[in-house]
Amino acid sequence: MNYVSTRAGQGGADVPGLVQRHNRGGPLERAFYTAPEVFEADLRHIFYRSWLFAGHACSIPQSGDYFTWRVGSEMIIVVRGKDGEIRAFHNFCRHRGTRICNDEHGHARKLVCPYHRWTYDLDGKLITATQREFEVDRSELGLLPVALHNVAGLIFVNFADDPPDFSDAIETIAPQMAPHALEKCKVAHSVDYVVKANWKIIFENNRECYHCPSHHDEYNAATYDVMRDRALFEPKLQAELDAITADANARFRALGLSEGNVSSEMSGAYFRCHRTPLMKGYVTQSLDGSPVAPLMGDVPEMDTGTLRTTLFPNFWQHTNCDHAVAARITPISADETRIRGIWLVDGKAEEGRDYTLDKLLPVWDQTNRQDWAICEGQQIGVSSRHYVPGPFSKYRERNVAHFLDWYLAEMQR
Ligand code: FES
Ligand SMILES: [Fe+2]
Repeated sequence: MNYVSTRAGQGGADVPGLVQRHNRGGPLERAFYTAPEVFEADLRHIFYRSWLFAGHACSIPQSGDYFTWRVGSEMIIVVRGKDGEIRAFHNFCRHRGTRICNDEHGHARKLVCPYHRWTYDLDGKLITATQREFEVDRSELGLLPVALHNVAGLIFVNFADDPPDFSDAIETIAPQMAPHALEKCKVAHSVDYVVKANWKIIFENNRECYHCPSHHDEYNAATYDVMRDRALFEPKLQAELDAITADANARFRALGLSEGNVSSEMSGAYFRCHRTPLMKGYVTQSLDGSPVAPLMGDVPEMDTGTLRTTLFPNFWQHTNCDHAVAARITPISADETRIRGIWLVDGKAEEGRDYTLDKLLPVWDQTNRQDWAICEGQQIGVSSRHYVPGPFSKYRERNVAHFLDWYLAEMQR
């Protein structure tokens, strides 16, 4: 039996006990979505240990451009150096720990602590002389680095002292993403959705399309997801879809684009990167299927399907021929999550002339908002002290179970 009737009390949650008695392949108990103790454990075991998506390289194109990002107790500065390299540092001063950059986005020639004005170079080295007055050489007082990989324009960071191997993800994602030249893109729009739901509810929702038919008219019109679910029960439809996929893959190959279905489980990371066809008549994920921006980067032609990239626990992106849409998940508390939606277009595209937000945003902005409304409803329901988890579909929710199995395995490690 996958679902168990257990009613968590109001007292402090016993996190190891909860993790221990979870049934593999089954749903989570209430406390996983509501208890502050579980939330703290999620930060410790998942977010302070996994590779996380922080942002896009193209959002800091010039030397000195930076952005900051806060996850739980950790806050980083991601900055492009004079050499063009992107580096991440803990955003606190080596003197008495004051936060250095207060803004979410900015440009600086040097990083200056607001307290006593210790000054750091863009590569993190302390410039202020300290030897005489503090009896510590400034070379020992540089900003503390955070592990970072720039994977074809996607910036991933890791807060662990000993970050898990990420090479598999890099080697898979980089060549698939390369033609879209994300480094040469620009952020056309971004929005922060603050959702009253646990971060796992957000990700569970992303892992299934069982809910799509009744919620996502705009998304469904562009993608085969709903049909793919139906095909699980209709062999004839499955054969039809297989033929469409084979045709599309042959076309992707001929265009020099990698196709397919690559996913991997690494210790501390699960990622997936695969290109899927869009509905007939749709060259991109727009309301009517027609392009909403010029071709991105080195994409050879319209209709390159959509390249889906997913990294547990905090990132997904759909990359079309003309624009990409990403989600970066930041857990705030047991029942609150901030999700940044980011729309990229080619760096040379000009708003008004080459694209307009009213055409670019609707499919994903509406899909996002539709999802957040469901997620908030689920959070309210699972918070009931009488909540009893129900069963998962063996077919249409197996990826939800897979996500939770990954989560539990990380919690157990
Ligand atoms: S705390 Fe930064 S200069 Fe003193
Ligand atoms: Fe959805």
